[in-house]
Amino acid sequence: MTQAQETVFEQDTVDKARAIMARYPQARSALLPMLHLVQSVEGYVSQAGIRFCAGQLDLTEAEVSAVATFYTMYKRRPCGEHLVSVCTNTLCAALGGDAIYAKLKDHLKVGHEETAGEPGTPGSITLEHAECLAACDLGPVLQVNYEFYDNQTPDTALELVKALQNGEKPAPTRGAPLTDFKQAELQLAGFFEGRDADLDGPSAAAETLRGARLAQEKGWDAPAMPENAEFPPIPEKK
Ligand code: FES
Repeated sequence: MTQAQETVFEQDTVDKARAIMARYPQARSALLPMLHLVQSVEGYVSQAGIRFCAGQLDLTEAEVSAVATFYTMYKRRPCGEHLVSVCTNTLCAALGGDAIYAKLKDHLKVGHEETAGEPGTPGSITLEHAECLAACDLGPVLQVNYEFYDNQTPDTALELVKALQNGEKPAPTRGAPLTDFKQAELQLAGFFEGRDADLDGPSAAAETLRGARLAQEKGWDAPAMPENAEFPPIPEKK
């Protein structure tokens, strides 16, 4: 390990990296959680973070960069204390997601993946457009550090962002209590130190369960899988 890596990522991070690698038969499979670990330290994937992952996993920096630049959850610029992701995919956009994004953009005076305030300092906010967040029945939705705030309007979203800027942490509609971006990244790397509440919280909404409830009331079942069902063979690799 080079000196530059040691100064950015301390022993605790190295220990966590080793713990992540131990979860997989092949160390290189640990790259995705490892990149979240890197973000939990620096608030983004820096060049030093790429070197760190490459060194730990015996990959090239080009291989790590290819992954880090492919997935939108890996940020290449330092993030704010909170990452606000507004769904502007078709359904949410039509229901008001575009108006929510425009309102927050005006208020924060930043664009996509830009940060209002000094990144990492209290009250700093990174804003981004997000593709479908898989909560279309609750749209328009936004997430703060990947926790859901459902059925938003431009005004409720603005109120939420102002509260975040003032150091408050309003409770998400579903999921665990709100933390900050770096802590959320540590959770995504698989570490829930001292915060049992991180594992808690309602994960489903009444709207999402309505179909299942209706089927239960009516006694509807999905057709059973036929016994000895035959599936087409998996084509061999050429
Ligand atoms: S379109 Fe916004 S959650 Fe699906």
